[in-house]
Amino acid sequence: MANAPIAGNDDAITNAFHTRYYDNPYQTWSNTFWMGCQILKCPLDLWVYQEIMFETKPDLIIETGTYKGGSAVFLASMFDAMARVAPEDRCPRRVLSIDIEEQDRPTHLRVRYHTGSSVADETLTLVKQIIAEYGAERIMVILDSDHTRDHVLKELDAYAPLVTPGCYMIVEDTNVNGHPAYEAFGPGPMEAVEAFLSKSDQFEQDRTREKYYMTFNPGGFLKRK
Ligand SMILES: C[S@@+](CC[C@H](N)C(=O)[O-])C[C@H]1O[C@@H](n2cnc3c(N)ncnc32)[C@H](O)[C@@H]1O
Repeated sequence: MANAPIAGNDDAITNAFHTRYYDNPYQTWSNTFWMGCQILKCPLDLWVYQEIMFETKPDLIIETGTYKGGSAVFLASMFDAMARVAPEDRCPRRVLSIDIEEQDRPTHLRVRYHTGSSVADETLTLVKQIIAEYGAERIMVILDSDHTRDHVLKELDAYAPLVTPGCYMIVEDTNVNGHPAYEAFGPGPMEAVEAFLSKSDQFEQDRTREKYYMTFNPGGFLKRK
């Protein structure tokens, strides 16, 4: 059953539900909380995150775009749960979350926040230092900051080499610019992924991760070969 190919997740029914869900953020995606903290994600995608994390067992997840910290704490909570399921596994899995804005965020022993642009030289230098400091050997990346095409492409170029083979780089919100949500957005994450994949053969789009039909990240689950 696991990872069976899916048939068409861009049919009329799925897209109609997707736009209905997306177009009422007061009731859906911006009205979603993890342990009391706002998280700007679709719960279907969060379940897929859990599956990817358990299967690929990253020891470090780097997230660009922290916002309130809900997603960072969600990821850390999944690591906590993994440690309970396999207590003999002593790997100290951690989350590094980067945002250009500083604000009060929930603390968690596994989470480290950094304030700075995800693509600034200082940030990228620090990220590499942290990878070395942690001795991280399995690295997953989630890109969820500025969703304009050019910024996401810069992130893809900067963070792709950090993702270890078999691990994922998830490009969030490829659904905007009419895929099928937020038509007026302009070139965004989907267009960045297309540009990135046209010049790199290091990653494959794992469409099996879109098995629940609606995902905010169509074509955005990239697996490092
Ligand atoms: C979509 S929100 C992140 C949502 C969060 N990951 C979640 O799931 O709840 C985008 C965040 O990216 C941040 N951001 C915008 N430009 C950025 C940049 N150049 N570098 C890092 N963060 C940036 C914004 O401040 C904002 O908090």
